[in-house]
Amino acid sequence: MSWWKDTVIYEIYPESFYDANGDGVGDLVGIRAKLPELVRLGVETLWICPIFSSPMKDGGYDVSDYFGIRESVGTFEEFDALVAELKEQNMRLILDIPINHTSDSHHWFQQSKVSEANPYRDYYIWRAGKGEFPPNNWISSKVGGSCWAQTEETEAYYLHLYSDWQPDLNWENPAVRSAMAQVLQFWIDRGVDGFRLDVINKIGKEPGLPDANVDPETGEPFFPEPYFQNHPLSHGYIQELRSRLKGEEIFLIGQTQGVSELEAYQYAAPVRKELDSFLQFEATDFRKTEGQSQEAFIEGWKEKLFRWQRIDECLSAMIFFGSHDLSRTVSHYGEDVTYRRESSKALALLLLSLRGIPVIYMGEEIGMTNARYRDFSKYQDIRTRLTYQRRVLEGGEPEEEVLREIWETSRDNARYPIHWNAGNNAGFSEVKPRLSPASNYRQVNVESERREEDSVLTFYRKMINLRRSEMVLRRGTFHPLKSEPGVISFERVWESRRVVVEVNLTHTPKKSGLTGSEKSLITTHSNSWMQPTLAAYEGRILVI
Ligand code: GLC
Repeated sequence: MSWWKDTVIYEIYPESFYDANGDGVGDLVGIRAKLPELVRLGVETLWICPIFSSPMKDGGYDVSDYFGIRESVGTFEEFDALVAELKEQNMRLILDIPINHTSDSHHWFQQSKVSEANPYRDYYIWRAGKGEFPPNNWISSKVGGSCWAQTEETEAYYLHLYSDWQPDLNWENPAVRSAMAQVLQFWIDRGVDGFRLDVINKIGKEPGLPDANVDPETGEPFFPEPYFQNHPLSHGYIQELRSRLKGEEIFLIGQTQGVSELEAYQYAAPVRKELDSFLQFEATDFRKTEGQSQEAFIEGWKEKLFRWQRIDECLSAMIFFGSHDLSRTVSHYGEDVTYRRESSKALALLLLSLRGIPVIYMGEEIGMTNARYRDFSKYQDIRTRLTYQRRVLEGGEPEEEVLREIWETSRDNARYPIHWNAGNNAGFSEVKPRLSPASNYRQVNVESERREEDSVLTFYRKMINLRRSEMVLRRGTFHPLKSEPGVISFERVWESRRVVVEVNLTHTPKKSGLTGSEKSLITTHSNSWMQPTLAAYEGRILVI
């Protein structure tokens, strides 16, 4: 059985994890220094966001050299030391790597843009414009504006699905495909166990790059995703990549936004020899609407969650609530002031009892909340800055209103430094980091969570341990159960073991669907499992 089927993953955004050398930026030595914390937590695999050389305009998802480590993050020596220590702890390492695009400062692009005759020209996607206009009408759904840009050197345009300094690589070119296989092999040879392949579902583009349809009402083009998102061509490219990799059980996870179940099967069914697992975002992209009750929100979320729990048995999906791109879990799905602790635990219980390969995003284990800075100038995320530029500066929308939205959606919610203690800079660094800690760092931090018996951190530890000892939680089949609105309830079955999970994700007590004759496996509220009602944000796992 492949090692990754039973693992619990912990995602680290290295800039903000722990700064060991006092320059205000988290680093590899910092990860190593805090490894004992992670060992105690019980996670078995680290997923580290991009560590490669990068101008850092998009958090490292803009690589300028795949064979280099960013100076602010560390050196190869430090990387090797981290790998060695992970091996000693029997832990695994997955690197996050964006290979759909590079930074425009990558030497391939620097060469490519020089002339049409340059040997690197076809590493990227260049097309002639249509008169004064770009080659087609594609608008970036991620950063706005045309997906095409020109350089000074030649007339042609290059394609960029993200910012114009993130040119898309041309996967039609066999040289690009073999260069990328070499990149992955380089890191495998250095001891890496797998990769999270960033937006890998966008590497195949519809030949001819046709115009997107135009909305007859507004005259504006629709987003062009149908021409490159989960395009059939991507499968061949990924299969080829996989077949070139040499190494034992290299774990490949694809970031595959917008997949259908059939497409997920095409990417990740073992017979396809493509990816091993995939990240889909249908549930995490689901947001509470203005004025919506928590009950209605949870019902909507549950429907999406459950849909992806019921997928074909042969598929191993990733299960996650937070990431470096998303809101903090407790702020998104729970209640992060009065019931911060309770709802964080309820969500831990849910995450670690669902089907799939669970990912805990750093800080989730202590119930860190959204940052909610009072001022736009404190935000660094490129997408937040663009929103400010377009909507406030250019669009004239009230700053206060846009800021409130940003409080819930900015990627900086996930990217601000981990609160290690109640000291200066929340114990993250000796100097002031680029992103400030959240204002609640004196109450919400690792040190205080470690001290307290009934903390969120202690609960995460217990849940991870339980998942490790209970095959039924890792491999059991999934069956949804009926419950009151706002309660998530389901059954997992493995051989003769049957467990029922019930989680109340509202602040109103709810009726439990159980009879009282069950045995408790774990609960968020001690000794409450015999009660016929679930308290606010109470979760239980019971054995039938
Ligand atoms: C993915 C990453 C995100 C990045 C984008 C472009 O969505 O998760 O952080 O900005 O790809 O590489």
